[in-house]
Amino acid sequence: MPTVVDRGLEGVVVGTTQLSNVEGAIGRLSYRGYDIDDLAPNATFEEIVHLLLYGTLPNRHQLEMLKRELGSCRALPEPLLAAMQNVPKTAWPMEVLRTIVSGLGLFSPVNAQGEHVSDVHTALELIAKVPTVVAAWDRIRRGLEPVAPRSDLSQAGNFLYMRTGKVPHAVEEDALDTYFVLLADHSYNASTFAARVAASTRADMYASVTAAMATLQGDLHGGAATAAFRTLTEVKTPENAEPYVREILERGKRIMGMGHREYKVRDPRAKHLETMAKELAEHVGGSDRRYQTAHAIEQASRKVLQEKKPGNAIYANVDFYTAPVLADLGIPGDEFTCLFACGRIAGWTGHILEQLADNRLIRPQATYEGPTAGPYVSIEQRSSNGQRG
Ligand code: COA
Repeated sequence: MPTVVDRGLEGVVVGTTQLSNVEGAIGRLSYRGYDIDDLAPNATFEEIVHLLLYGTLPNRHQLEMLKRELGSCRALPEPLLAAMQNVPKTAWPMEVLRTIVSGLGLFSPVNAQGEHVSDVHTALELIAKVPTVVAAWDRIRRGLEPVAPRSDLSQAGNFLYMRTGKVPHAVEEDALDTYFVLLADHSYNASTFAARVAASTRADMYASVTAAMATLQGDLHGGAATAAFRTLTEVKTPENAEPYVREILERGKRIMGMGHREYKVRDPRAKHLETMAKELAEHVGGSDRRYQTAHAIEQASRKVLQEKKPGNAIYANVDFYTAPVLADLGIPGDEFTCLFACGRIAGWTGHILEQLADNRLIRPQATYEGPTAGPYVSIEQRSSNGQRG
């Protein structure tokens, strides 16, 4: 039987998980059996962290304990903060985040075997510290001193506080909290899969999360929100949306923030983000009209894609309305992938723990398509292109 090569692993089932379920055909996402439509308006990110790491929604006492642990782990080791001061201010925030998160391993204690412990406490430490890195770099690159984290604020509230030094308005804190809830997990997406591959070799949690961070950065994955923000900035007003979309598609390019490998209907996270984008736009006011422009781009994309390929299944994904939401929270476009990581760190660490609990090395195969076997050619006998002369 001929070997089937599936370059993108589309539809290939490579493992199991109890963390989240993506039902692409009907547009449903659930975390441990709870529909995201139910969680987004009701649960906080801290509850989701408990759900993903411990398997259940927390009771009051458990939630208090979890918040206390997160609050006590937020500060970064001084040498890492000092290292960030020496990074060129032009560095891309995601590069800084990936590098400093890798560096966190250097300051974590090791067990009697000299290994880092990869347990739920390491997971909470990473969940607590990732936003601190993002906020610290945000200030350092603006020539400002980092603001020390506060232990009494939520993950979302503390992040916004560390950026500005001011406790955020409840509308802003709620919007970012819901964003983190929506981004917390998404089954075997590319970065989570990378984390599981690394963990399957028994690499520790710092290394596995670094692999996930590296995989998140591309614009076919976590970088798409930044790309969607660039689109918003170029389009500027709702009136420009349709001509812009037509031009992009004419040139054979893609509308960033549209389309998804799994969802063949609208991404279920998009509607919550759209609602938030609308609410935030009303809250911040101003003349930017980001929400209206985003909405017009989505409408125009659907219209033009339908014209070009009737029945096509390309809808807004999670990254599309992330752009107006994060922009209206005052977060610069090039930090959006880092914000994605602040939410997804909950899922990554949960998946790493799940992988380690029942581990099997993940090691696929490839069909060899290179030259057929031949003898070694001595350097004297090679022509200028390295072949036998
Ligand atoms: N804009 C325009 N056309 C798109 C498109 C988009 N955003 N996304 C997919 N398509 C088209 C492709 O051009 C292709 O058309 P063709 O069959 O005529 O060649 C078809 O839809 C299938 O695309 P393909 O890349 O094979 O699908 P995929 O399952 O690999 O795509 C993504 C998934 C996410 C990579 C793709 O939709 C994309 O590039 N989106 C933009 C980036 C993005 O938003 N990423 C974040 C994902 S959460």
